[in-house]
Amino acid sequence: MRVLSFRLNGDDVHIAAPDHWTLLEVLRYRAGLTGSKQGCDKGDCGACTLHVDGKSVLSCLTLAGEVVGREVTTIEGLVSEAGPDVVQDSFDEAGCLQCGFCQPGMIMAARQLVTENPQASRDEIRDALSSNLCRCTGYTKIYDAVEDACRRTLASVDSPEGPAGGAEPRAHRNGVGGMAKLDEQPAGEAS
Ligand code: FES
Ligand code: FES
Repeated sequence: MRVLSFRLNGDDVHIAAPDHWTLLEVLRYRAGLTGSKQGCDKGDCGACTLHVDGKSVLSCLTLAGEVVGREVTTIEGLVSEAGPDVVQDSFDEAGCLQCGFCQPGMIMAARQLVTENPQASRDEIRDALSSNLCRCTGYTKIYDAVEDACRRTLASVDSPEGPAGGAEPRAHRNGVGGMAKLDEQPAGEAS
């Protein structure tokens, strides 16, 4: 058992958990954040996707100890005082999901893409969501929703209200889209 200190959806948290627990387990069973879904629990479905330091990771394959000193953002953290994030709103508008189990991971992967490349082509959107499986729907409406979020983000760039959706753009470090590996030490953390 150890106490893990990190930023969670904008707050400093200190959570005690067994050393072998994954980030997904700590969030669901210690922090009470059940938005990130436990689907396959072995890295195949993407339902557990969230952001660590602004990059998409599979939280079922991430040991909780790896996020000490880092910034973790879950689907719950996308909502701001201004309302739902533009990606959440576009998914809602498109009515592109049925059971919704894949939705949080899909939205987190899409959120990263929309932030980093709001001019993404259909192929780039398809690539960015390729680690996220949906067993209920076709993917066409999901891709439509991401295109809509991209379009709304680009349209809002010059607006006095700033970027669409209310949520602050996250910090990003490497590349565009895709799953990240936590192989870097966060600033100021000794190994
Ligand atoms: S629950 Fe993590 S990839 Fe399926
Ligand atoms: S809506 Fe059910 S798995 Fe995607």
